[in-house]
Amino acid sequence: MKILAIETSCDETGIALLDTSGPVARPKVHIIRDAVSSQIAIHRPFGGVVPGLAKREHIKNLPIVLEQVLGKNPEKQKIDAIAVTVGPGLEPALWTGITFAKEIHKKYFPKAKLIGVNHLEGHLYSFLLTKKNKTRVFPSIALVVSGGHTILSLMQSMTKRKKLGETCDDAVGEAFDKVARLLNLPYPGGPEIEKLAERGNPRAIPFPRPMMHTKDYDFSFSGLKTAVLYYMRDHKGADRADVAASFSEAAVETLVKKTMRAAKQYKARSVMLSGGVAANKRLRSSLEADSKKLKLPFFVAPFKFNTDNAVMIGVAGYMTYVRRKNHSLRAQGNLNL
Ligand code: KG4
Ligand code: ZN
Repeated sequence: MKILAIETSCDETGIALLDTSGPVARPKVHIIRDAVSSQIAIHRPFGGVVPGLAKREHIKNLPIVLEQVLGKNPEKQKIDAIAVTVGPGLEPALWTGITFAKEIHKKYFPKAKLIGVNHLEGHLYSFLLTKKNKTRVFPSIALVVSGGHTILSLMQSMTKRKKLGETCDDAVGEAFDKVARLLNLPYPGGPEIEKLAERGNPRAIPFPRPMMHTKDYDFSFSGLKTAVLYYMRDHKGADRADVAASFSEAAVETLVKKTMRAAKQYKARSVMLSGGVAANKRLRSSLEADSKKLKLPFFVAPFKFNTDNAVMIGVAGYMTYVRRKNHSLRAQGNLNL
């Protein structure tokens, strides 16, 4: 099945062409072409994503990115399905992708199926983009960490899952972005904090690890962000690299501790990490090391598929299709896992 996938939930305009096959328990994915146009430079002066600007840029970029993926004569391609993100995300941005999907469906590929995709399932299923053996991975503990979400799930099979917990306040990516602002770093904050943290001492400042020892699988990151705010206020000459490293350490330790506790409790056979914050090397290596201690395979997609992209939307689109599910083709800003 040839899937054209479209992602416009936030500040990346992504389009990908995938060849997908296989039954629901053993899906196979081959990436034919993949393009992303990032709006980071446009939003950077504002310190975050401006929804109106995102919408304008998606409308401008979608035809350009489509041409990069399908060439000048898209109608000559055989496309079986068009998968498009319907949520969660910024509704004005989501609508641009949905409207574009419907337009090209009508104009070029009237026989193709239109598949609405949950962006979070895109992150969740991004483990299918790894080359590792995927037999006997379930039950798996899957941690999804992005700018808007922090969710811990138990995946009982390729299609069955149960949410174990999520953040009660800020998402961990949001905490990275907010702490970056306190440190006068540009948007998006995650990669900037990571760079600065490399020169700092992660043990320099004992920032709190909110909810790390609670029995549930929920998270809280707003108190950690506030602790950084107070620390900066009370220590005017603070070494910013130490602050970045100590903050990252607190966030990573909380995520890893709870994920591994869930892996033990549910006798998981693997651990999965996805979402934009999965690009953080400290988080990847720490979760991988702890998984190894329990002899569990650890899955995380290659770096470019951690932050938003259309390839993962194509993969989740295929899973949505083979499960005979569909989401209605309207923007659903608050869709969850
Ligand atoms: O998944 P994503 O691209 O968009 C959403 O679905 O939200 O995630 C974006 C988030 C941002 O908060 C960004 O700061 C964070 O991922 N991020 C990182 C890193 N790269 C991106 N956080 C920590 N370390 C990184 N290297
Ligand atoms: Zn995302």
